[in-house]
Amino acid sequence: MKGLILSGGHGVRLRPITYSQQKQLIPIANKPILFYCIEDLINAGVQDIGIVVGPNKEQVMNTVLSFKWDANIEFFCQDAPRGLAHAVKISEEFLKDEKFIMYLGDNLLKGGINGFVRDFVDAKVESSLLLTRVEDPQHYGVALVDEQRKVILQLLEKPKKPPSNLSIVGIYGLTPSIFEAIDNIKPSWRGEFEITDALHWLIEKGYSIRYDLVEGWWKDTGKPEDLLEANRLILDGICSENKGCIENSRINGRIVIGDNTVIEEHSTIAGPTIIGDNCTISNAYVGPFTSIGNNCRIIDTEVENSIVLDGSDIVHGGKIIESLIGKDVKIRKNNSLPKGKKLVIGDNSEIEL
Ligand code: DAU
Repeated sequence: MKGLILSGGHGVRLRPITYSQQKQLIPIANKPILFYCIEDLINAGVQDIGIVVGPNKEQVMNTVLSFKWDANIEFFCQDAPRGLAHAVKISEEFLKDEKFIMYLGDNLLKGGINGFVRDFVDAKVESSLLLTRVEDPQHYGVALVDEQRKVILQLLEKPKKPPSNLSIVGIYGLTPSIFEAIDNIKPSWRGEFEITDALHWLIEKGYSIRYDLVEGWWKDTGKPEDLLEANRLILDGICSENKGCIENSRINGRIVIGDNTVIEEHSTIAGPTIIGDNCTISNAYVGPFTSIGNNCRIIDTEVENSIVLDGSDIVHGGKIIESLIGKDVKIRKNNSLPKGKKLVIGDNSEIEL
């Protein structure tokens, strides 16, 4: 079976980080979100994987190709984010012959997709979806289901008045019939070709779409708070591994520390926390639920419940909580007069002082 991962789109809700970085490459516990999707597909036995890329395509392709995967990986360029159904359509040549799995590249699923893929292989249906109950269904694709027959009766994309609280999770079992369905839909009110509309077209034609409910947690990492929660959930499952050097400092709980990283000068690291390679943590308190990338310096600062990307340098930064800090960011205390905050901040940044 083949797999298709969608890694295009602008990631508007994650600006300014996504001005320079494609959202599916943002690391959760120091690993790009996209890599969790690739691993899930490979673990489920998928050996041919297509990845749809759009803005920052070179960045996505180079990052993926810098690792050796146990699968064949091809890329398909989407000229603009015209919708999930459009992304499927441009990959038709690759997918047209058999059942396939589509995985949205910004989704994270704790339990993997092995069971879902196995059931879909055996099922005689046009499509199979993963659903989960949510408190805010109006922000997702929503399904109305027949619980007894385990089939879907109606699908709507981000409806103002959701008919149920069952949201569509970003993993879809599809068959080549989806291409005819896509040819028969029009762009939605938000100007996108919605996969939800194509699937609903199949239901209206009398085809059967089954569903499974997600076991364990699922996260759509569309917004900063979603990334922080995903980071907490993944870190909750890490095992300790220390390749660094700890001098005059305390470690509490499960910690991963990378090569050439030094923890010094009465620092405390509270787990679960991950710190990358070549970092210096000095007279600092880091954690819990914190991911620090490679080549970072955290000095005379507390960082809790946060994600700090590669190359950031934080000195006398006070107490930083629930923050997403991009690559190569510098944070310093202003020691000169006039006192006050000096800011050089990108468009669409959010700061709570
Ligand atoms: O996460 C689950 C939800 O994902 C579902 O409940 C919705 O039914 C489904 O439409 C989708 O909604 P989102 O608004 O979250 O989709 P988003 O625009 O974030 O795109 C999902 C992924 O697909 C993301 O990795 C970007 C990529 N993408 C998106 C578009 C619109 C593409 O590669 N190409 C595109 O044209």
